[in-house]
Amino acid sequence: MPDLETYLDDADLARSLRADVRTGLTATAKWLPPKWFYDARGSALFEEITRLPEYYPTRAERAVLQARAPEIARITAAKTLVELGSGSSEKTRLLLDALSADGALGTFIPLDVSAAALSEAVAALTAEYPGLTVRGIVGDFTRHLRLLPGGGTRLVAFLGGTIGNLLPAERHEFLTTLRAALDAGEWLLLGTDLVKDESVLLPAYDDAAGVTAEFNRNVLRVVNRELGAAFDVDTFDHVARWDPTNEWIEMRLAARTAMRVPIPELDLVVDFAAGEQVRTEVSAKFRREGLERELEGANFTLRHWWTDPDGLFAVSLSQAR
Ligand code: AVJ
Repeated sequence: MPDLETYLDDADLARSLRADVRTGLTATAKWLPPKWFYDARGSALFEEITRLPEYYPTRAERAVLQARAPEIARITAAKTLVELGSGSSEKTRLLLDALSADGALGTFIPLDVSAAALSEAVAALTAEYPGLTVRGIVGDFTRHLRLLPGGGTRLVAFLGGTIGNLLPAERHEFLTTLRAALDAGEWLLLGTDLVKDESVLLPAYDDAAGVTAEFNRNVLRVVNRELGAAFDVDTFDHVARWDPTNEWIEMRLAARTAMRVPIPELDLVVDFAAGEQVRTEVSAKFRREGLERELEGANFTLRHWWTDPDGLFAVSLSQAR
């Protein structure tokens, strides 16, 4: 087992899950944050989603990185690569290969909430890249950015479109905090899914095989296991909607019948009306102009904008100003 720097332990996670579930399920419009999808089963379901024919973002982003990694290495000449929400660090290898071929790279810092996923990734990458120092950080990218170690020009990669899980105000907060953790001239590589026709967007979040539905319901399994709740998981229907005003996808879970769900660890009983929905995820889609404005508002300058050949997904490279 490799050494990890830990800013987040099981007790912190348990505390924030309890707070989130209490806040979300006692609200008038019920909601749960998407970060709780990703236990071992949820992470495996997400991996399965990335291979579905309908789910284009992973393939499209990989195509961009394959085409542009050498350019990214040349432009940034980064000495340190930081990856936020790195998970299995699979796409990172494209960047690591290009940055080490260029010679400057010395350190890779993956940051993730999951100590299990992180230690696997750190062990594998340490073996695969003998000259590289790999420092895994167990932390939350919305809370622990100011703890990023410095040293040489840093490139922070935030891929997969995960920034779309944040609401606009949370995005601003995230980008501002990240900017404050960086020195002028350092880099942000951001993966963002793009606004496109609903006929392409919706199936990506409502696939024919029902994998996304299982992924969505998994959050109730997590609440059952961690908080002793009594959700009858299969009586919730998966709902995916495109919101054209906010330009985001919403996933929800709809109670098929009226029910009363005890959550003993919270001393709480939650009532659902028949058809009542819980919002479980917002996945925002972007346009270049809007994202550039948000980056500007956080003191980043957008320097490069690359998309896949079909224009589905963008990887942008911005510089701290
Ligand atoms: C991992 C947050 C980028 O929003 O597309 C996949 C998660 N949700 N299918 C996304 C997800 C439903 C995914 N992100």
